[in-house]
Amino acid sequence: MNHTSPHAAHDGPHPAPQPASGVLDQAEILDLDAEVLAEHIASITAWLPIEREPQHILDLGCGTGAGTFALLARFPAARVTAVDASEGHLRRLREKAAALGVADRVRTVAADLDARWPELGRPDLVWASASLHHMADPDRTLGTVHDVLAPGGLFAVVELAGFPRFLPADAPRERPGLEERCHAALAHHHAEHVPHRGADWGPRLAAAGFAVEGERTIAVNVEGSRSEAVGTYALSGLRRLRASAAHALAAEDLAALDRLLDPDSPLGVLHRGDLAVRTERTVWAARRA
Ligand SMILES: C[S@@+](CC[C@H](N)C(=O)[O-])C[C@H]1O[C@@H](n2cnc3c(N)ncnc32)[C@H](O)[C@@H]1O
Repeated sequence: MNHTSPHAAHDGPHPAPQPASGVLDQAEILDLDAEVLAEHIASITAWLPIEREPQHILDLGCGTGAGTFALLARFPAARVTAVDASEGHLRRLREKAAALGVADRVRTVAADLDARWPELGRPDLVWASASLHHMADPDRTLGTVHDVLAPGGLFAVVELAGFPRFLPADAPRERPGLEERCHAALAHHHAEHVPHRGADWGPRLAAAGFAVEGERTIAVNVEGSRSEAVGTYALSGLRRLRASAAHALAAEDLAALDRLLDPDSPLGVLHRGDLAVRTERTVWAARRA
């Protein structure tokens, strides 16, 4: 099994993004997320209670393929149908698949999963990572997955605890706790716009007719020294946070945030030795009887 090869694609068609040029787009963030969390995603796929090696996997809301490529590596006999509403993400996923020599094992389907689903075959493993909470009616989606999944097949749902944290709690020195205050300023926004993010999917999977066979929460703490991508990820993540939270921050907090975001400042994020990506992922493994 090769957990790192999917991310070698960053050295191929998509050179590492340059954060100094601006805020990264969602595809670039998803790629960074996949790179930084590669080991954790691999440990989730390794944990799945597989009874029979899956032959056909469906990746719902696949993004740029973090799950798709981890699953292809974990299950060498499987092919993946990767579904997303974003044509751009799917294009990137296809380019990576070609660079990795697995294009013949991946089919991409552009579809809005809130609308009527296209024909997606009869998968024996369905994977939805950080995507269920985007659905307009996730409980209806759970029911649709139950209908398309082969009897005895497994549905793996991966959920985020929230946006990752990058700075120590007492940073920066002149405004300790700044990052938490930014998140607090956005809490009501997220509650309104992504109300299902961080949901406890176990009872909802059971209500949709699945037998929940396992649940596991993985704490992620990737230190900056372990991956060059962490600095890029932190800078871009904090820039996005600033774009959303600026209006709700005290002037002193905003000034401190701007110093952190200045790539040329010695106080900037890229010069800090204490960056990390701290977050949690929870996975549920649910079987269709
Ligand atoms: C946070 S990303 C997760 C991507 C990927 N699963 C991963 O773990 O990196 C959520 C993805 O869901 C897709 N998405 C959101 N709503 C969707 C919908 N209604 N139909 C299809 N895809 C959707 C987005 O385009 C995005 O790629």
